[in-house]
Amino acid sequence: MRVLHISAECYPAAKAGGLGDVVGALPKYQNQSGIAAGVVIPKYDLPWIRNRPTEVVYSGAFRMANGVYYPFAVEQTGMDNLGFPLFFVNIPGQFDRQGIYGDASGWFGDNEERFVFFQQAVLQWVLQFAEKPDLLHCHDHHSGLIPFMVKYCPDYHLLKDIPTVFTIHNGEYQGALHWDKYPILPAFYPEASGLLEWNGNINSLACAIKCAWAVTTVSQSYMEELAYTSNGLESLIRDEWPKCRGILNGIDAQVWDPQQDSYLPVRLATDVDAFKQENKNALFSRFQFQEQDPVFTFIGRLVREKGADLLPGLIRQVLDSGLAVNFLILGTGEADLHDALRELNWVYRGRCDAVLEYNEALAHTLYAGSDFLLMPSLVEPCGLNQMYALRYGTIPIVRTVGGLKDTVIDLGAFPEEGRGFRFDHFTVDDAHHAIWRAYSLYQDSSQMKSVRKRIMAEDFSWEKAANNYFHLYQELV
Ligand code: GLC
Repeated sequence: MRVLHISAECYPAAKAGGLGDVVGALPKYQNQSGIAAGVVIPKYDLPWIRNRPTEVVYSGAFRMANGVYYPFAVEQTGMDNLGFPLFFVNIPGQFDRQGIYGDASGWFGDNEERFVFFQQAVLQWVLQFAEKPDLLHCHDHHSGLIPFMVKYCPDYHLLKDIPTVFTIHNGEYQGALHWDKYPILPAFYPEASGLLEWNGNINSLACAIKCAWAVTTVSQSYMEELAYTSNGLESLIRDEWPKCRGILNGIDAQVWDPQQDSYLPVRLATDVDAFKQENKNALFSRFQFQEQDPVFTFIGRLVREKGADLLPGLIRQVLDSGLAVNFLILGTGEADLHDALRELNWVYRGRCDAVLEYNEALAHTLYAGSDFLLMPSLVEPCGLNQMYALRYGTIPIVRTVGGLKDTVIDLGAFPEEGRGFRFDHFTVDDAHHAIWRAYSLYQDSSQMKSVRKRIMAEDFSWEKAANNYFHLYQELV
């Protein structure tokens, strides 16, 4: 079976979040299990891509509804250690910028348009394949118009029978485009225009849910949540429910391996406690905290969706209550949160410290050297960080939502199988209580050790998830 994944991100070439991790891992495991899976993303001007030799495998142009042709090329990079073929669509003037969705000066204003071009270029290229893919797997709204384009655009008519799978990694972004932008789309049958529309706009996410042969999201709980809360798409999700399903992500156990991880100052040999302690020591070079007390870490985008706006109030309340704990934060995001965290660094020096940047290497050390990982997400389709944390012996503290609900069993309710601490309400008080429970566990070092040992042995590898996708593909092909 030949599958082409179409995405905005793919680790290690271009990653802004979990989407990149998944698209950089799933195809690797698919190739290992006999599916010929390739990935295509836009060619950004990012370091990994810039330094890579590539070979042009196609050059041509796609035609927009206004009759204008737009030139582009597709380049392939050597397989390296990726484990799958990776292609870049090079569209001059669109993606040759130093960021995926934005750069140092902010979010790009033309993201929706750029990804429409990307999708057309991909299909124009696929048209020329001697052997067509058996299935197109689209990820998030950046490739959400493809299921529509293959069915209803005469230019891509030859692809109309290829099954399409659409995976929602993050339903918060819908890729809505004003109707007066329609001339940049490929020409489509006018009677199909209703499929493009949702709430008065061209809406890529809604269009994908309507047109894809199957819709998946990255956990069962998130799938159910979308039917009740998805920023206006609820009724659509319910209408399309029979073709929707949740498939939990895995983690790349080769990248996230405490015994092999080259980012870590100290790798795991046999002694888990030594591994944790030595990596905790290594964190001292970067952060200020009290070594004898537990470290609670937040890693990720500093945005409301991830619960980052709960952090300042939570940290104040916990530290003001006198609980002897430390907070470390790594990430970038909203400017007001950067300000609030800088202030906390100052007020609670030695107890709370934040590095406000994206830093993959430091993230790995934090997973290894922390005691607890905080994920107070408002929305969490799957969440990978809790799984990375578990593998590195760091106990997650999560809000009971989406994939967090599906992966973190509460230690209080199930002491024998528990993996972390959960809280239900998106409030400082609820999160504070969970931290207090975690602190109590930390005081009991033999319990703490046995929980650590147990969670590190859990299997979240991709094999299982890849198998679920395989069954879905088989149903469609
Ligand atoms: C998005 C979601 C996250 C999920 C990831 C990979 O980043 O926010 O929860 O784990 O996609 O599917």
